[in-house]
Amino acid sequence: MVRLAGIDIGNDSVKLIVNGSSEPIIIPNVVSPGYDRLVLQEEDSPLKALDVMVYSPKLKKKSVRTFVGLIASEDQDNAEQEETDNKATSDQSLIVALTALAYAGVMGAGAAREPGQAADEIEYVIGTGLPVRTYAKFHQAFEERLVGEHEVSFLSTPKLRGRTVRLVIRRAIISVEGAAALFNMATNDNLQVRDEELYYGCIGICEMGALTTDFPVVKRMSIDNQFSTGEQLGLASYLDSIIRDVEDEFGYRFPSRTKLVQRIRRGEYIIQRVGEGQADIRPIVDTYFGRAAQKIVDLIRKRWKKYPDIQCFYVLGGGAAALKPYILEAADSMRLRFIENSELQNVEGYLKLARNKMNQMEASSF
Ligand SMILES: Nc1ncnc2c1ncn2[C@@H]1O[C@H](COP(=O)(O)OP(=O)(O)OP(=O)(O)O)[C@@H](O)[C@H]1O
Ligand SMILES: [Mg+2]
Repeated sequence: MVRLAGIDIGNDSVKLIVNGSSEPIIIPNVVSPGYDRLVLQEEDSPLKALDVMVYSPKLKKKSVRTFVGLIASEDQDNAEQEETDNKATSDQSLIVALTALAYAGVMGAGAAREPGQAADEIEYVIGTGLPVRTYAKFHQAFEERLVGEHEVSFLSTPKLRGRTVRLVIRRAIISVEGAAALFNMATNDNLQVRDEELYYGCIGICEMGALTTDFPVVKRMSIDNQFSTGEQLGLASYLDSIIRDVEDEFGYRFPSRTKLVQRIRRGEYIIQRVGEGQADIRPIVDTYFGRAAQKIVDLIRKRWKKYPDIQCFYVLGGGAAALKPYILEAADSMRLRFIENSELQNVEGYLKLARNKMNQMEASSF
Protein backbone atom coordinates (compact mmCIF):
# COMPACT_ATOMS: atom_id res chain seq x y z
CA MET A 1 0.00 0.00 0.00
CA VAL A 2 1.39 3.38 -0.96
CA ARG A 3 0.51 6.17 1.43
CA LEU A 4 -0.07 9.71 0.28
CA ALA A 5 1.19 12.47 2.56
CA GLY A 6 1.74 16.20 2.64
CA ILE A 7 4.93 17.32 4.37
CA ASP A 8 5.97 20.92 5.02
CA ILE A 9 9.69 20.82 5.75
CA GLY A 10 9.73 24.07 7.69
CA ASN A 11 12.84 25.72 9.07
CA ASP A 12 11.04 25.96 12.40
CA SER A 13 9.11 22.72 12.33
CA VAL A 14 8.30 19.85 10.02
CA LYS A 15 4.57 19.34 9.61
CA LEU A 16 3.15 16.13 8.21
CA ILE A 17 -0.35 15.01 7.31
CA VAL A 18 -0.95 11.50 6.05
CA ASN A 19 -3.96 11.13 3.77
CA GLY A 20 -6.95 9.92 5.75
CA SER A 21 -5.72 11.01 9.17
CA SER A 22 -6.91 14.32 10.48
CA GLU A 23 -4.19 15.06 13.02
CA PRO A 24 -1.00 16.69 11.77
CA ILE A 25 2.32 15.54 13.19
CA ILE A 26 4.54 18.48 14.11
CA ILE A 27 8.23 18.04 14.91
CA PRO A 28 10.49 21.02 15.70
CA ASN A 29 13.33 21.21 13.17
CA VAL A 30 16.00 20.93 15.85
CA VAL A 31 18.65 18.24 16.19
CA SER A 32 21.47 17.44 18.58
CA PRO A 33 24.11 14.72 18.65
CA GLY A 34 22.66 11.48 20.00
CA TYR A 35 24.22 9.33 22.71
CA ASP A 36 23.29 6.54 25.11
CA ARG A 37 21.19 8.55 27.47
CA LEU A 38 20.26 7.67 31.00
CA VAL A 39 16.52 7.08 31.08
CA LEU A 40 15.16 7.50 34.61
CA GLN A 41 11.59 7.58 33.49
CA GLU A 42 10.38 6.90 30.01
CA GLU A 43 8.68 9.79 28.23
CA ASP A 44 4.94 9.31 27.75
CA SER A 45 5.10 9.85 23.98
CA PRO A 46 7.59 8.83 21.28
CA LEU A 47 7.58 12.42 19.98
CA LYS A 48 9.20 13.58 23.22
CA ALA A 49 12.27 11.42 22.68
CA LEU A 50 13.02 10.80 19.02
CA ASP A 51 16.43 9.14 19.19
CA VAL A 52 17.24 7.87 15.72
CA MET A 53 19.82 6.62 13.26
CA VAL A 54 19.01 7.80 9.76
CA TYR A 55 20.61 6.07 6.80
CA SER A 56 20.18 7.75 3.47
CA PRO A 57 22.36 7.86 0.38
CA LYS A 58 21.42 11.55 0.14
CA LEU A 59 23.03 12.56 3.45
CA LYS A 60 26.65 13.70 3.58
CA LYS A 61 27.25 11.58 6.67
CA LYS A 62 25.54 8.34 5.83
CA SER A 63 24.39 7.43 9.32
CA VAL A 64 24.65 9.40 12.53
CA ARG A 65 22.80 8.95 15.78
CA THR A 66 20.67 12.03 16.29
CA PHE A 67 18.18 13.39 18.79
CA VAL A 68 15.35 15.02 16.86
CA GLY A 69 12.69 17.56 17.83
CA LEU A 70 11.59 18.20 21.41
CA ILE A 71 14.40 16.21 23.04
CA ALA A 72 16.97 18.22 21.08
CA SER A 73 15.27 21.54 21.83
CA GLU A 74 16.29 21.17 25.49
CA ASP A 75 19.93 20.50 24.63
CA GLN A 76 22.49 23.31 24.79
CA ASP A 77 24.42 21.67 21.93
CA ASN A 78 21.50 21.65 19.55
CA ALA A 79 21.32 23.04 16.05
CA GLU A 80 18.45 25.00 14.57
CA GLN A 81 18.25 26.12 10.95
CA GLU A 82 20.12 29.34 10.14
CA GLU A 83 19.71 32.00 7.46
CA THR A 84 22.36 30.36 5.30
CA ASP A 85 20.58 26.99 5.28
CA ASN A 86 18.61 26.00 2.21
CA LYS A 87 15.88 23.51 2.93
CA ALA A 88 16.33 21.92 -0.47
CA THR A 89 19.87 20.87 0.41
CA SER A 90 19.98 20.82 4.21
CA ASP A 91 20.92 17.50 5.82
CA GLN A 92 19.27 18.52 9.07
CA SER A 93 15.94 19.15 7.39
CA LEU A 94 16.13 15.83 5.56
CA ILE A 95 16.85 13.98 8.82
CA VAL A 96 13.87 15.57 10.57
CA ALA A 97 11.60 14.97 7.56
CA LEU A 98 12.56 11.29 7.27
CA THR A 99 12.10 10.84 11.02
CA ALA A 100 8.60 12.32 10.74
CA LEU A 101 7.70 10.04 7.82
CA ALA A 102 9.03 6.98 9.66
CA TYR A 103 7.20 7.90 12.85
CA ALA A 104 3.91 8.40 11.00
CA GLY A 105 4.50 5.12 9.21
CA VAL A 106 4.94 2.97 12.30
CA MET A 107 2.25 4.73 14.32
CA GLY A 108 -0.29 4.61 11.50
CA ALA A 109 -2.80 1.88 10.77
CA GLY A 110 -1.57 -1.27 9.04
CA ALA A 111 2.05 -0.79 10.04
CA ALA A 112 2.44 -4.13 11.81
CA ARG A 113 5.43 -6.16 10.72
CA GLU A 114 5.03 -9.58 9.20
CA PRO A 115 6.47 -12.28 11.50
CA GLY A 116 10.16 -12.68 10.81
CA GLN A 117 10.43 -9.39 8.99
CA ALA A 118 13.23 -7.26 10.41
CA ALA A 119 11.98 -3.87 9.34
CA ASP A 120 8.72 -2.12 8.60
CA GLU A 121 8.57 -1.05 5.00
CA ILE A 122 6.53 2.02 4.24
CA GLU A 123 5.94 3.45 0.80
CA TYR A 124 4.97 7.05 0.23
CA VAL A 125 4.02 9.52 -2.42
CA ILE A 126 4.57 12.94 -0.87
CA GLY A 127 3.60 16.50 -1.64
CA THR A 128 5.92 19.21 -0.36
CA GLY A 129 7.19 22.68 -1.26
CA LEU A 130 9.92 25.28 -1.48
CA PRO A 131 9.98 29.08 -1.01
CA VAL A 132 9.23 31.26 -4.05
CA ARG A 133 12.83 32.25 -4.54
CA THR A 134 14.28 28.77 -4.11
CA TYR A 135 11.72 26.94 -6.22
CA ALA A 136 12.91 27.55 -9.77
CA LYS A 137 16.52 26.68 -9.10
CA PHE A 138 16.14 23.86 -6.63
CA HIS A 139 12.87 22.02 -7.09
CA GLN A 140 14.39 19.30 -9.21
CA ALA A 141 17.31 18.70 -6.87
CA PHE A 142 14.91 18.66 -3.93
CA GLU A 143 12.73 16.08 -5.62
CA GLU A 144 15.74 13.88 -6.38
CA ARG A 145 16.90 14.12 -2.80
CA LEU A 146 13.61 12.96 -1.38
CA VAL A 147 12.75 10.23 -3.85
CA GLY A 148 14.39 6.86 -3.19
CA GLU A 149 15.08 4.59 -0.26
CA HIS A 150 16.00 5.66 3.23
CA GLU A 151 16.07 3.94 6.59
CA VAL A 152 15.28 5.17 10.09
CA SER A 153 16.00 3.19 13.25
CA PHE A 154 14.56 4.24 16.60
CA LEU A 155 16.91 3.70 19.54
CA SER A 156 15.81 4.79 23.04
CA THR A 157 12.47 6.21 21.82
CA PRO A 158 9.63 5.00 24.04
CA LYS A 159 7.24 2.51 22.37
CA LEU A 160 9.46 2.36 19.27
CA ARG A 161 12.72 1.10 20.77
CA GLY A 162 14.56 -1.12 18.30
CA ARG A 163 12.15 -0.55 15.41
CA THR A 164 13.63 0.02 11.97
CA VAL A 165 11.63 1.56 9.16
CA ARG A 166 12.54 1.28 5.52
CA LEU A 167 11.09 4.29 3.76
CA VAL A 168 10.49 4.13 0.05
CA ILE A 169 9.50 7.49 -1.41
CA ARG A 170 8.06 6.77 -4.83
CA ARG A 171 7.34 10.33 -5.87
CA ALA A 172 7.66 13.84 -4.50
CA ILE A 173 5.46 16.59 -5.89
CA ILE A 174 7.02 19.97 -5.18
CA SER A 175 4.87 23.11 -4.96
CA VAL A 176 5.46 26.73 -3.96
CA GLU A 177 5.08 27.84 -0.34
CA GLY A 178 2.21 30.20 0.20
CA ALA A 179 0.60 29.34 -3.13
CA ALA A 180 -0.15 25.86 -1.77
CA ALA A 181 -1.72 27.50 1.25
CA LEU A 182 -4.03 29.47 -1.02
CA PHE A 183 -4.98 26.34 -2.96
CA ASN A 184 -5.96 24.78 0.34
CA MET A 185 -8.10 27.75 1.30
CA ALA A 186 -9.82 27.90 -2.10
CA THR A 187 -10.76 24.21 -2.37
CA ASN A 188 -12.59 21.65 -0.26
CA ASP A 189 -11.48 18.10 0.54
CA ASN A 190 -12.76 16.81 -2.80
CA LEU A 191 -10.59 19.40 -4.53
CA GLN A 192 -13.63 21.32 -5.74
CA VAL A 193 -13.88 25.08 -5.58
CA ARG A 194 -14.89 26.17 -2.11
CA ASP A 195 -14.31 29.89 -2.43
CA GLU A 196 -14.82 31.50 -5.83
CA GLU A 197 -13.21 34.78 -4.90
CA LEU A 198 -9.99 32.99 -3.99
CA TYR A 199 -10.12 30.50 -6.83
CA TYR A 200 -10.82 32.94 -9.63
CA GLY A 201 -9.46 36.17 -8.17
CA CYS A 202 -6.08 37.88 -7.97
CA ILE A 203 -4.86 37.23 -4.46
CA GLY A 204 -1.78 38.43 -2.58
CA ILE A 205 -0.20 36.21 0.03
CA CYS A 206 2.33 37.03 2.70
CA GLU A 207 3.45 33.78 4.25
CA MET A 208 5.88 34.33 7.07
CA GLY A 209 7.90 31.37 8.25
CA ALA A 210 10.94 31.09 10.45
CA LEU A 211 13.59 32.09 7.92
CA THR A 212 11.73 33.15 4.80
CA THR A 213 8.65 35.17 3.97
CA ASP A 214 6.98 34.39 0.68
CA PHE A 215 4.88 36.83 -1.33
CA PRO A 216 3.28 34.83 -4.11
CA VAL A 217 0.63 36.56 -6.20
CA VAL A 218 -1.90 34.05 -7.49
CA LYS A 219 -4.32 34.81 -10.28
CA ARG A 220 -6.99 32.24 -11.12
CA MET A 221 -4.89 29.69 -9.22
CA SER A 222 -1.78 30.35 -11.35
CA ILE A 223 1.31 31.84 -9.81
CA ASP A 224 2.28 35.19 -11.29
CA ASN A 225 5.91 34.85 -12.34
CA GLN A 226 6.58 38.54 -12.50
CA PHE A 227 5.11 39.74 -9.25
CA SER A 228 5.71 36.82 -6.91
CA THR A 229 8.75 37.25 -4.72
CA GLY A 230 10.19 36.30 -1.38
CA GLU A 231 12.35 37.73 1.38
CA GLN A 232 15.15 36.02 3.26
CA LEU A 233 13.58 37.11 6.48
CA GLY A 234 11.39 35.36 8.99
CA LEU A 235 10.42 35.32 12.63
CA ALA A 236 13.55 33.46 13.72
CA SER A 237 15.89 36.46 13.67
CA TYR A 238 13.49 38.36 15.94
CA LEU A 239 13.25 35.36 18.27
CA ASP A 240 17.05 35.23 18.37
CA SER A 241 17.15 38.91 19.33
CA ILE A 242 14.65 38.30 22.12
CA ILE A 243 16.74 35.38 23.40
CA ARG A 244 19.87 37.55 23.36
CA ASP A 245 18.25 40.50 25.15
CA VAL A 246 16.65 38.29 27.78
CA GLU A 247 20.05 36.76 28.45
CA ASP A 248 21.77 40.15 28.66
CA GLU A 249 19.13 41.65 30.88
CA PHE A 250 18.18 38.76 33.14
CA GLY A 251 20.95 36.17 32.77
CA TYR A 252 18.36 33.63 31.63
CA ARG A 253 19.13 31.61 28.52
CA PHE A 254 16.50 29.90 26.40
CA PRO A 255 18.17 26.79 24.95
CA SER A 256 16.30 27.11 21.64
CA ARG A 257 13.79 29.22 19.73
CA THR A 258 11.35 26.35 20.18
CA LYS A 259 11.46 26.78 23.96
CA LEU A 260 10.86 30.52 23.68
CA VAL A 261 7.94 30.08 21.28
CA GLN A 262 6.34 27.47 23.55
CA ARG A 263 6.14 30.13 26.25
CA ILE A 264 4.92 32.90 23.96
CA ARG A 265 2.15 30.62 22.67
CA ARG A 266 1.00 29.92 26.20
CA GLY A 267 1.21 33.60 27.11
CA GLU A 268 3.71 32.82 29.88
CA TYR A 269 5.98 35.82 29.98
CA ILE A 270 7.27 35.48 33.54
CA ILE A 271 10.61 33.69 33.83
CA GLN A 272 12.20 32.26 36.92
CA ARG A 273 15.69 33.61 37.52
CA VAL A 274 18.40 31.81 39.44
CA GLY A 275 17.45 32.15 43.09
CA GLU A 276 13.96 33.38 43.83
CA GLY A 277 13.63 36.35 41.54
CA GLN A 278 11.23 36.53 38.64
CA ALA A 279 11.27 38.70 35.54
CA ASP A 280 8.77 39.75 32.89
CA ILE A 281 9.98 39.32 29.31
CA ARG A 282 6.81 40.78 27.76
CA PRO A 283 8.30 44.23 27.05
CA ILE A 284 11.20 42.64 25.14
CA VAL A 285 8.82 40.46 23.13
CA ASP A 286 6.61 43.48 22.37
CA THR A 287 9.56 45.50 21.12
CA TYR A 288 10.79 42.91 18.62
CA PHE A 289 7.39 41.64 17.52
CA GLY A 290 6.31 45.26 16.98
CA ARG A 291 9.34 45.80 14.77
CA ALA A 292 8.75 42.58 12.84
CA ALA A 293 5.12 43.53 12.26
CA GLN A 294 6.07 46.98 10.99
CA LYS A 295 8.52 45.44 8.55
CA ILE A 296 5.93 42.98 7.24
CA VAL A 297 3.31 45.68 6.85
CA ASP A 298 5.78 47.88 4.94
CA LEU A 299 6.62 45.00 2.60
CA ILE A 300 2.95 44.25 1.96
CA ARG A 301 2.15 47.90 1.28
CA LYS A 302 5.02 48.08 -1.20
CA ARG A 303 3.88 44.95 -3.02
CA TRP A 304 0.29 46.07 -3.16
CA LYS A 305 1.29 49.46 -4.61
CA LYS A 306 3.33 47.74 -7.31
CA TYR A 307 0.39 45.56 -8.25
CA PRO A 308 -2.94 47.22 -7.48
CA ASP A 309 -4.89 44.41 -9.20
CA ILE A 310 -4.51 42.39 -6.01
CA GLN A 311 -8.01 42.11 -4.56
CA CYS A 312 -7.07 41.04 -1.05
CA PHE A 313 -4.01 40.10 0.95
CA TYR A 314 -3.75 37.09 3.24
CA VAL A 315 -1.17 36.96 6.00
CA LEU A 316 -0.27 33.33 6.73
CA GLY A 317 2.32 31.06 8.30
CA GLY A 318 3.42 30.77 11.90
CA GLY A 319 4.60 34.37 11.68
CA ALA A 320 1.01 35.51 11.14
CA ALA A 321 -0.12 33.58 14.21
CA ALA A 322 2.63 35.11 16.30
CA LEU A 323 2.34 38.68 15.04
CA LYS A 324 -1.36 39.12 14.33
CA PRO A 325 -2.16 41.76 17.00
CA TYR A 326 1.02 43.67 16.17
CA ILE A 327 0.37 43.54 12.41
CA LEU A 328 -3.22 44.72 12.83
CA GLU A 329 -1.95 47.69 14.76
CA ALA A 330 0.76 48.53 12.25
CA ALA A 331 -1.55 48.05 9.24
CA ASP A 332 -3.77 50.90 10.31
CA SER A 333 -6.42 51.32 7.60
CA MET A 334 -4.99 48.75 5.18
CA ARG A 335 -7.23 45.67 5.39
CA LEU A 336 -5.44 42.37 5.78
CA ARG A 337 -6.91 38.90 6.15
CA PHE A 338 -5.92 36.25 8.66
CA ILE A 339 -7.17 32.72 9.14
CA GLU A 340 -7.07 30.11 11.88
CA ASN A 341 -4.25 27.54 11.90
CA SER A 342 -2.30 29.59 9.41
CA GLU A 343 0.88 27.56 9.92
CA LEU A 344 -0.89 24.41 8.67
CA GLN A 345 -2.27 25.83 5.41
CA ASN A 346 0.81 24.90 3.38
CA VAL A 347 0.97 21.29 4.48
CA GLU A 348 -2.74 20.81 3.85
CA GLY A 349 -2.25 22.39 0.44
CA TYR A 350 0.71 20.10 -0.37
CA LEU A 351 -1.40 17.04 0.39
CA LYS A 352 -4.24 18.31 -1.82
CA LEU A 353 -1.87 19.20 -4.67
CA ALA A 354 -0.26 15.76 -4.47
CA ARG A 355 -3.68 14.14 -4.53
CA ASN A 356 -4.66 16.31 -7.48
CA LYS A 357 -1.55 15.29 -9.39
CA MET A 358 -2.07 11.58 -8.69
CA ASN A 359 -5.69 11.85 -9.86
CA GLN A 360 -4.58 13.54 -13.08
CA MET A 361 -1.95 10.88 -13.72
CA GLU A 362 -4.45 8.10 -13.13
CA ALA A 363 -6.91 9.75 -15.48
CA SER A 364 -4.32 10.20 -18.22
CA SER A 365 -3.09 6.61 -18.01
CA PHE A 366 -6.41 5.29 -19.36
N1 LIG B 1 0.79 30.41 17.49
C1 LIG B 1 2.04 30.86 17.44
N2 LIG B 1 2.45 31.80 18.31
C2 LIG B 1 3.71 32.26 18.29
N3 LIG B 1 4.63 31.87 17.41
C3 LIG B 1 4.28 30.95 16.52
C4 LIG B 1 2.98 30.39 16.48
N4 LIG B 1 2.94 29.48 15.48
C5 LIG B 1 4.17 29.48 14.93
N5 LIG B 1 4.97 30.36 15.55
C6 LIG B 1 6.36 30.68 15.21
O1 LIG B 1 6.33 31.34 13.95
C7 LIG B 1 7.50 31.04 13.20
C8 LIG B 1 7.13 30.53 11.85
O2 LIG B 1 6.46 29.28 11.97
P1 LIG B 1 6.22 28.37 10.70
O3 LIG B 1 5.72 27.07 11.19
O4 LIG B 1 5.42 29.09 9.71
O5 LIG B 1 7.72 28.24 10.18
P2 LIG B 1 8.33 27.19 9.18
O6 LIG B 1 7.33 26.86 8.14
O7 LIG B 1 8.85 26.04 9.95
O8 LIG B 1 9.56 28.00 8.58
P3 LIG B 1 9.92 28.32 7.03
O9 LIG B 1 8.65 28.67 6.35
O10 LIG B 1 10.91 29.46 7.13
O11 LIG B 1 10.53 27.09 6.53
C9 LIG B 1 8.26 30.01 14.01
O12 LIG B 1 9.32 30.65 14.67
C10 LIG B 1 7.23 29.46 14.98
O13 LIG B 1 7.83 29.01 16.16
MG1 LIG C 1 6.91 27.63 6.28
